[in-house]
Amino acid sequence: MSTTSHIRKNGDAIPVATGHDLRRQTVCVTGAGGFIGSWLVKLLLLKGYNVRGTVRNIEDPKNLHLKGLEGAEERLILYKADVLDYESICLAFDGCDGIFHVASPVTNDPEKVKVAVAGTMNAINAAAKAGVRRFVFTSSIGAVHMNPNRSSDAVLDENCWSDLDYCKKTDNWYCYAKMVAEIVAVDLAKKRGLDLIVVVPPVTVGPMLQPTVNASCFRVLTYMRGTKKTYPNAVMALVDVRDVAQAHMLVYENPNAFGRYFCIATVIHRAQFVGMLSEMFPEYPITSKCEDKVNPRVRPYKFANQRLQELGLEYTPIKKSLYETVKSLKENGHLPPARVFHAPPRITASL
Ligand SMILES: NC(=O)c1ccc[n+]([C@@H]2O[C@H](COP(=O)([O-])OP(=O)(O)OC[C@H]3O[C@@H](n4cnc5c(N)ncnc54)[C@H](OP(=O)(O)O)[C@@H]3O)[C@@H](O)[C@H]2O)c1
Repeated sequence: MSTTSHIRKNGDAIPVATGHDLRRQTVCVTGAGGFIGSWLVKLLLLKGYNVRGTVRNIEDPKNLHLKGLEGAEERLILYKADVLDYESICLAFDGCDGIFHVASPVTNDPEKVKVAVAGTMNAINAAAKAGVRRFVFTSSIGAVHMNPNRSSDAVLDENCWSDLDYCKKTDNWYCYAKMVAEIVAVDLAKKRGLDLIVVVPPVTVGPMLQPTVNASCFRVLTYMRGTKKTYPNAVMALVDVRDVAQAHMLVYENPNAFGRYFCIATVIHRAQFVGMLSEMFPEYPITSKCEDKVNPRVRPYKFANQRLQELGLEYTPIKKSLYETVKSLKENGHLPPARVFHAPPRITASL
């Protein structure tokens, strides 16, 4: 049986289907083949939604895993779309009830700032044109934590923003792009009368559904292989990819959800991060030295993550997420068996 609730939009109460009705809706996930996008598609299919996923190349082997997801045969349609191509996005969104705008380049290349920002504007305009019920935007902790003037005792919450000038000065173009894209999304959605909700994940880890390694799992891979000889005296915020997907769905489904939602499981020092990996995988040559031998250890900042917990999200313990990230890297052939790192050098006989 379905139920109906109401949300406020432009001052009016509008009906929102809840319960089973929601799951017969058609929703679109941009960047469906990526790390977070794939988990979101999987979850939405499992919950019975009709799902559309945008990818830039339907035939690319890196997107083939989507077709194997449970329910994909009956309820997943892939659309070839580039976020910079407005018409392609309009085609994918036409007839949708909800949009999850996940697609964005995960890179520090300043050239990609315009892709993140113009792509988000195209997605908002296309969603407004299609008259969708709700638009969920994937932001990043990069839009929040890059602020040198904040006290180390401050509690980071949904009112906090990075300092754009500081991002520029320190060449943090990814953080810069995500923050500008979020600001633009909020402004444009307001102008277009679109119900927008923002999910803010930090470094996201966990098992990969896609065959290629995305940027955040690559960071784990780098430490596992000991490619980096030292780790910085810095902290990092982390969350499990399944929690991020769940967060997107929770904010979409909850009629009373609004605004920005932090999706952060924990903040730890890099020493704790590599310590967990070493404890679970002592056979690997994991980076174990800090590059800073002078200063005291940077303390993890405090943060607020209760808004999503109030919607029902239970965070996965990060040790479990890291264990499963490594397992997945091994299973997908990205991380060789530990013995490879300990093999004696090959001696070639010279004549
Ligand atoms: N993973 C994290 O730690 C993390 C943390 C916070 C926020 N986020 C945000 O979460 C989202 C997904 O990230 P992810 O970790 O899942 O990375 P990912 O695996 O690299 O996925 C990024 C997705 O964006 C798509 N994309 C990039 N440029 C595009 C364009 N011009 N047109 C259409 N699609 C485009 C990619 O498609 P192609 O495969 O065709 O390139 C890919 O599907 C991003 O918005 C990212 O900023 C990620």
